[in-house]
Amino acid sequence: MRITVIGTGYLGAVHAAGMAELGHDVLGVDVDAGKIDRLTQGVAPFYEPGFPELLRANLDAGRLRFSTSLKEAAEFGEVHFICVGTPQRPGSTSADMKFVDAVIEGMAPHLHQPCLIVGKSTVPVGTAHRLSSMVAQLAPVGEQAEVAWNPEFLREGFAVNDTLHPDRLVVGVSSSEAEATLRAVYDRILEAGTPYIVTDVATAELVKVSANAFLATKISFINAISEVCEAAGADIIPLAKALGHDARIGNRFLAPGVGFGGGCLPKDIRAFLARAEELGVDESLAFLKNIDAINVNRRRSALTLARGMLGGSLSNKRIAVLGAAFKPNSDDVRDSPALSVANALQVQGADVRVHDPEAIENARAAYPLLNYTTDVQKTFEGSELVIHLTEWQEYRDLDPLHLSALVSAPHILDARNTLDIDLWRSAGWTVRAMGRPAR
Ligand code: UDX
Repeated sequence: MRITVIGTGYLGAVHAAGMAELGHDVLGVDVDAGKIDRLTQGVAPFYEPGFPELLRANLDAGRLRFSTSLKEAAEFGEVHFICVGTPQRPGSTSADMKFVDAVIEGMAPHLHQPCLIVGKSTVPVGTAHRLSSMVAQLAPVGEQAEVAWNPEFLREGFAVNDTLHPDRLVVGVSSSEAEATLRAVYDRILEAGTPYIVTDVATAELVKVSANAFLATKISFINAISEVCEAAGADIIPLAKALGHDARIGNRFLAPGVGFGGGCLPKDIRAFLARAEELGVDESLAFLKNIDAINVNRRRSALTLARGMLGGSLSNKRIAVLGAAFKPNSDDVRDSPALSVANALQVQGADVRVHDPEAIENARAAYPLLNYTTDVQKTFEGSELVIHLTEWQEYRDLDPLHLSALVSAPHILDARNTLDIDLWRSAGWTVRAMGRPAR
């Protein structure tokens, strides 16, 4: 099939290459000419394991190309996937729909053939209906350009696998023709027995925000219990393990620490609540305010623990920060807990040095006043406190004995609960971990 993917960020670029991998003829489109140039040359514009290989293979096979022209996209595609961002609107908690709307405004006037427009971006429920009216008004082909919704559940760091082997496909459609088209697009994935759920468009939009709200709730739940553990001198790690053995609860997304960040969960729960307010059902989702507050408070708790470990003041204290990305295996720093803690430490007078294996360039663009290094040993040199804020494997593999000779004082705060703290303690380090008792 001839497929276009509009928006080539973390989601769209992988989706475009994934659709080509399934055998389709794919055109990826973005307003960022620099990004399109890089993709055309087979250079990934972001860090995502496995993506460079997928991109290169499908460029070489002649199934994948890129453009900045929405007119070209309109004339080429039978199916158009919308994968542009829906960030938090400045000065509001709702989603900013300007990028999605711009795609429809730019593409619809060039739609002369029947086609299917499929939203993948996370949007407020009701968006597909609104876009349908826009398309009917603006497209020469009128209502023969149909709008469907097919939410994307991919996780950064696992995006290639999640695109080619999703745990479910959800398609929200208004006609059996649209459903048949999407079935044909995903033919090979469906052959593998992937669960396939067909709904109306509003339900499909809601599945995505509900999934993210549930995941955020699970993380904030364990972090709230973690706060209680800290106050009571109990230990969140065996507690979480014990909860996870109950199959009704499960152990995934129950990792306590500094909380969630990224381009999805934080803004999605806020936008969900904002939309619920518009629909007059905000009381039903009022708990999401607490989920957000618990999450933001974890960053403050990490600061409080750090200050305590440094004798009550951060002023002029040399601090090594391990991690800048919002999670490992990604260079995404959007709403990164690591960077927000690093920045707060510096604002409160600490001399901060931040290390990350992949995200330094993005981190520097977001927080230009922080000091960065790509040499993990240099981060440790002379530090009075090390704070582990993004759980890269590289940090788990560090040798605490060797590093203790580099620091001014062997003090470490594990804000992700993934280091082997017994190993660090036996190498002479004073260790604190979020939600775990001091020893
Ligand atoms: C999320 C959803 O998982 C995905 O389905 C959706 O499509 C987009 O949003 P992503 O933002 O890539 O994906 O990251 P995810 O792996 O969900 O992690 C989100 C944040 O939660 C990270 O900051 C992570 O460190 C944190 N987290 C995750 C925890 O603090 N504890 C956990 O147990 C799990």
